[in-house]
Amino acid sequence: MADSKNNSNQVPDTGHVWDGIRELDNPCPRWWLNSLYLSGLIVVVYFILYPSLPLVNDSTKGLLGWTQIKEFKEDLAKVEAVRAPFENKLAEMSVEDILANQEMLNYAIGSSKVLFGENCAACHGTGGAPAESAGYPNLTDDDWLFGGEINEIMMSIAKGRSGTMPAHQNLLTTEEVDLLVQFVVDSSNGVENSAGLALYNAKGCVACHGADAKGVKAMGSANLTDKIWRFSGDEDQIRHTILHGVNDASDKETRVALMPQWSEKMAVIMEAIAYAIEDDEDPNDIDWDDELTGDEAERLTETEIKKLAVYVHQFGGGQ
Ligand code: HEC
Ligand code: HEC
Repeated sequence: MADSKNNSNQVPDTGHVWDGIRELDNPCPRWWLNSLYLSGLIVVVYFILYPSLPLVNDSTKGLLGWTQIKEFKEDLAKVEAVRAPFENKLAEMSVEDILANQEMLNYAIGSSKVLFGENCAACHGTGGAPAESAGYPNLTDDDWLFGGEINEIMMSIAKGRSGTMPAHQNLLTTEEVDLLVQFVVDSSNGVENSAGLALYNAKGCVACHGADAKGVKAMGSANLTDKIWRFSGDEDQIRHTILHGVNDASDKETRVALMPQWSEKMAVIMEAIAYAIEDDEDPNDIDWDDELTGDEAERLTETEIKKLAVYVHQFGGGQ
């Protein structure tokens, strides 16, 4: 029980004794108490200045009017301010000019990574190289269905693309398919196969893949004489493409090869300019009210498509 007489240091005790050990009643250290009071004060000040107390649909606002979204927007505005001069300049430049200007090229490439990641990587893979089994074209090899020149790439993105190889399972005998598979394999190895070539011509493959079987850009047909495959160089896979084609609605096993359209408006504009040049007319004379209805879909802006075309062009395959 309480026994201050035996307390050698004359510290008052609490009167509690456990197993002969007495609980003294020392005051808390000053520094400790001060920190305790200070932290209480900080809580009060924070409470007054910042949003703190949750209400039913909201919270108290605080005197500073700080919000997370406001801070984010301020940071974003700083980033945009840095980007704005580049973005404005890009909007005015042609893709050829961008390619020739190292500073703008660096900016376009740097700022396209996220754009590509968000819109393209799901099919074409991060950095433009999808897994082969995914069935999407690799954009980093030097092999193009529709062409690797900057304007061709831009057109692929703006307009979208879709493969046109028909299914041949009802048009060819098994022996003919075997011979054509062998012809494709031989062609990719640089081996001549004259019986195969005759059949290739007779069955109309030549109309799309060309007399040299190297593919025709305007048709987006694959080059059959190299070792870079749109799908795969396995004989089974080659046979599958010949039998079932691509995007052939009449064949359940057909391959799907659809590239979405990103700006119908830009595709219409690019095509109109290309036709005018082909016909020896001045593109400045084009009557855009005639060409454009105003309802053309735009999933990406013109500047974004230019940036992406430049980005894809520098993957290593650009021509
Ligand atoms: C839904 C999947 C998908 C998405 C998303 C997609 N693509 Fe494609 N892309 C394809 C397919 C499939 C083809 C090949 C079409 C064909 O086989 O005829 C293709 C073809 C292309 C080509 C032409 C390649 C060649 O060899 O000529 C380019 C360039 C291209 N895509 C760039 C892009 C860019 C840039 C984006 C993002 C804005 C994008 N793609 C988004 C599926 C996609
Ligand atoms: C109407 C045009 C057309 C005809 C006819 C055609 N092809 Fe194709 N072929 C294509 C296109 C376009 C592609 C590219 C598929 C795509 O868009 O991804 C292709 C792809 C292929 C491929 C895949 C190559 C690869 O790299 O993976 C093979 C093999 C092939 N064709 C063989 C043939 C043979 C053999 C014939 C004749 C029996 C033939 N094609 C007839 C348009 C055609």
